[in-house]
Amino acid sequence: MVGAAIIRVLRAKGCDNILTRTRAELELRDSAAVDRFFAEHRPAVVVLAAARVGGIAANMSAPAAFLVDNLRIGVNVLTAAAAHGATDVLYFGSSCVYPRDAPQPLREDCLLSGPLEPTNEGYALAKIAGIKLAEYLGRSTSLRVVAAMPTNLYGPGDHYDPEKSHVIPGLLQRFHKEKARGSTEVECWGSGRPLREFMHVDDLAAAAAHLLVRHPGFGLVNIGTGEEVTIAALAQLVADAVGFTGRIRWDSTRPDGTPRKLLDLTRLSSTGFVPRVRLREGLAATYAEAVAAGRFDDL
Ligand SMILES: NC(=O)c1ccc[n+]([C@@H]2O[C@H](COP(=O)([O-])OP(=O)(O)OC[C@H]3O[C@@H](n4cnc5c(N)ncnc54)[C@H](OP(=O)(O)O)[C@@H]3O)[C@@H](O)[C@H]2O)c1
Repeated sequence: MVGAAIIRVLRAKGCDNILTRTRAELELRDSAAVDRFFAEHRPAVVVLAAARVGGIAANMSAPAAFLVDNLRIGVNVLTAAAAHGATDVLYFGSSCVYPRDAPQPLREDCLLSGPLEPTNEGYALAKIAGIKLAEYLGRSTSLRVVAAMPTNLYGPGDHYDPEKSHVIPGLLQRFHKEKARGSTEVECWGSGRPLREFMHVDDLAAAAAHLLVRHPGFGLVNIGTGEEVTIAALAQLVADAVGFTGRIRWDSTRPDGTPRKLLDLTRLSSTGFVPRVRLREGLAATYAEAVAAGRFDDL
């Protein structure tokens, strides 16, 4: 989702010398293959958007795989980029690698200040190792690294398989299915009260392209919209996007997760970046793309 959005943004800006590789063409866990690729092509600017990514169920059931795969991908790509003369790297962390109980809104300097959220600890440890490796490489070579820390993302190309999906594709899929069945009620987990922040992937990609030009060197930069929404309000916006007119029932016996998760955007805002996509319009466009692409067909 992220890599495709960044390519769209760079192409729209007239960048026509983008080199990409699918997983079938280049397995990033294979250090020899990654080193050969960088030795042959010597890219100047490297965007590492590949990772083993998943929702809470996938993370909880395979923490070792999330840790090992993401460590390997990070170490292989970052060390090869530094060894073969890259000048700039954009690496992706995530808001979920900050300590579970860090003060809100989450500032970049709270990284490593406390225990992690246990449900995605393997993923978070690997991402933090990548961030620190990038920082060390930035000190000992001329590599400039931006470690982007995005909030929850949504948009075209998202995963709708319940095993992999995050909250927005999960809700879109559920409301779509219940509407098709003619249901008058949809049940959602929790109280609906937790506050979350969501960003359209096109805004994330615009921020990424902006930071590659405007950021002066190594550093963590939170990327978000600064707009909070309750899960209940989000569910209603999703229902509106799908055209589901029935009732939403909240099952408060189910866990809510952390009550609030919001990023501090002081650093991003100081570079002059402003997000453009409003949640209501972004959800409508995401739903239209998912239907057109047949993403609900096999679910
Ligand atoms: N989505 C979010 O809400 C979110 C939030 C914060 C941060 N991020 C970060 O943003 C980055 C991109 O996430 P995304 O949402 O775009 O994920 P995505 O849609 O799952 O894309 C990840 C890509 O990485 C590829 N990949 C995985 N393992 C690989 C390997 N070993 N070798 C080569 N390619 C491999 C995948 O290929 P296959 O399709 O073949 O598996 C896929 O194309 C990740 O670093 C993620 O941690 C995402």
